[in-house]
Amino acid sequence: MSFSDLRFVVASDVLLACFLPLAILILSYKHFPSFALSDIRDLFAFSPRNRRRHGHFSLERAYYSFSQYARLSANELSRMRSSYATLSRTNRNIGYKIGYTKKLDHLRDVTSLNTVVVDGIVELALEEFPFLKDEPVINTDFADLGRVRESLKHFVRDWSEEGATERARIFTPIINLLSEVDAGQRGQMKVLVPGCGLGRLAWEISQLGFDTTANELSFFMTLSLRFLLSTKATTSVNDHQLRPYAHWFSHQRSNVSLFRCISFPDVVPRRSANFCLVEGDFLDIKIPTTGTKAKPLGWTKDHANAPGTQPEGFDYIVTLFFIDTSLDVLTTINHIYTLLRPGGTWINLGPLLWTGGAQAKVELSLDEVLNAAKDIGFILASEDNGPASRQTVECEYTGDKNAMMRWIYKAEFWVGRKPEHRPSGI
Ligand SMILES: C[S@@+](CC[C@H](N)C(=O)[O-])C[C@H]1O[C@@H](n2cnc3c(N)ncnc32)[C@H](O)[C@@H]1O
Repeated sequence: MSFSDLRFVVASDVLLACFLPLAILILSYKHFPSFALSDIRDLFAFSPRNRRRHGHFSLERAYYSFSQYARLSANELSRMRSSYATLSRTNRNIGYKIGYTKKLDHLRDVTSLNTVVVDGIVELALEEFPFLKDEPVINTDFADLGRVRESLKHFVRDWSEEGATERARIFTPIINLLSEVDAGQRGQMKVLVPGCGLGRLAWEISQLGFDTTANELSFFMTLSLRFLLSTKATTSVNDHQLRPYAHWFSHQRSNVSLFRCISFPDVVPRRSANFCLVEGDFLDIKIPTTGTKAKPLGWTKDHANAPGTQPEGFDYIVTLFFIDTSLDVLTTINHIYTLLRPGGTWINLGPLLWTGGAQAKVELSLDEVLNAAKDIGFILASEDNGPASRQTVECEYTGDKNAMMRWIYKAEFWVGRKPEHRPSGI
């Protein structure tokens, strides 16, 4: 290239066209550090499937979030140390005397103890999904750290002695209703638990003898559940320890309570002939194929144990703290209806905590949800339908029983039945 050619390139729009996107990229990276290179790749992942694969709850993102748990936690701790360093000398002295600097050191140590469980999850993920090691690194951020911590807290909610009281409040109405079904019939009945989280309810239902499918979209949850189901990763009761509350200093009466250790699991779950995990979107679940066995119908003991035919679909769908997480609850309820066999039963227990900021397509009141369910075709049990009766259940969600704050939900329990025959006009 001659000097005049070079001068032409430098002065022309060609250079500008090449240089401008690069400059924008560098500036974006500088001003929005959480804007990761993987986001740029996502921008160019034109297929919707690709986009979903690398969404907030994807396998890849969950894997890298668990992998980077130690780094993300260390970053947060160093920001906390920096904040402390901005105190006046006098106040730093007080902080030192009351042991605040030691508390920050303790947080560092406790985080590395939590890393034992997190590393176990990462190791198992690599074993079960070996292609992950060839996946381009995703730079995770504080929101991902929050998702990791949330799934760790679910070990407490679902699988620890500490969580037993919280579980008892919400599982009891569901288990009581399902216990009405004749034990001999349960093995032939299919139960689906969408949005199962760490799967304890689904597993309890399988222990009653039902053919149970646990379904969960978020790989933050399912990688953690896989860690429990693995014969290699979890071998005995209380095999693992976590300090799940350590990172949130608010509402703590003492540091002993803040840093306390919780052991799990209180029972060891395993995959079995009647307990399976389906990872993915509930809305992608198809109507199960019919076995040859007859299935009884209904929600009460009499209904449930009556001789049935061979209808298609799930006999029960159990939603616990689930329907309000949907961005389109009407589609979700419709899908529950579709997946149930005629005469099948929907059991719901949960609040109505919609995703705000106009993300949820509709944000309904309880009355509206129940009216919509009726409109879709459900026959709802009333207040005097025995164990199927509607009731309000005061309960918590991953609560810390020692904390100075309690968040109590007045969750609603209801049972809806899909009619044997669709009423005409609907
Ligand atoms: C509030 S949590 C409740 C988890 C569990 N049922 C419990 O009570 O501990 C809602 C769960 O539903 C899952 N979820 C949300 N939308 C889903 C979908 N479309 N398909 C499957 N799971 C979904 C979330 O990932 C989350 O784990």
